[in-house]
Amino acid sequence: MIAVAITGASGPIMGIRLIEELLNNSEEVYAVVSNASWQIIEHELSYKKKGSFPLTDLIASRGKTANTGLLKEFDDKDFFSPLASGSTLFEAMVVIPCSMKTLSGIAHGYADSLITRACDVSIKEKRKLIIVPRETPLSLIHIENMHKIALAGAIILPPVISFYTLPKSTDDMVDFITGKVLNLLGKKNTLFESWGNSSGSTKEILA
Ligand SMILES: Cc1cc2nc3c(=O)[nH]c(=O)nc-3n(C[C@H](O)[C@H](O)[C@H](O)COP(=O)(O)O)c2cc1C
Repeated sequence: MIAVAITGASGPIMGIRLIEELLNNSEEVYAVVSNASWQIIEHELSYKKKGSFPLTDLIASRGKTANTGLLKEFDDKDFFSPLASGSTLFEAMVVIPCSMKTLSGIAHGYADSLITRACDVSIKEKRKLIIVPRETPLSLIHIENMHKIALAGAIILPPVISFYTLPKSTDDMVDFITGKVLNLLGKKNTLFESWGNSSGSTKEILA
């Protein structure tokens, strides 16, 4: 089981795509969306939170996976969630996108939400923790917080545009970041081809 958190930075679509791909790979996903993220989802994806399982509803409405049965979603204040405890053996955790506020909470062990608590658990249990921070420019405080959690073992994967894959749309850019996370998780990635395997124009550019 993979834990995925979506926090209130721009680009929640990256977290949604990751969850869709994990579900398509028949992976069980435990997901948490912060309250701030729901506001950004409304703004960027025109989806207004509704019902008891809004993430499941949102993903089902996009029609890109049939496997929503493998998705469990938890409220960010629900410390009774299995994700709040190291006794739950989740394989890895991804925070995508990660706001600077959540980054700060993780860096300082300030676990006042399920997301920051689950990250705290990941670090203390030495589990794989992938952080996709989204802010620009970065202040020294942001950089120091990233430094701190990198020293604690987390992987920092900024959502940087891959010009070399010749993206044609924002969907292509999102899929590239999603694919990078899948690669780090050691999961199947069909979202972009590894360098040198492309039958298309990237090869020609190298030549
Ligand atoms: C439209 C919008 C976009 C935002 N984008 C970012 C962002 O890219 N990075 C960031 O760190 N905060 C961003 N924020 C601010 C966070 O949402 C805010 O700090 C919030 O408290 C984060 O809470 P959370 O970490 O619990 O999700 C944005 C806010 C709004 C309304």
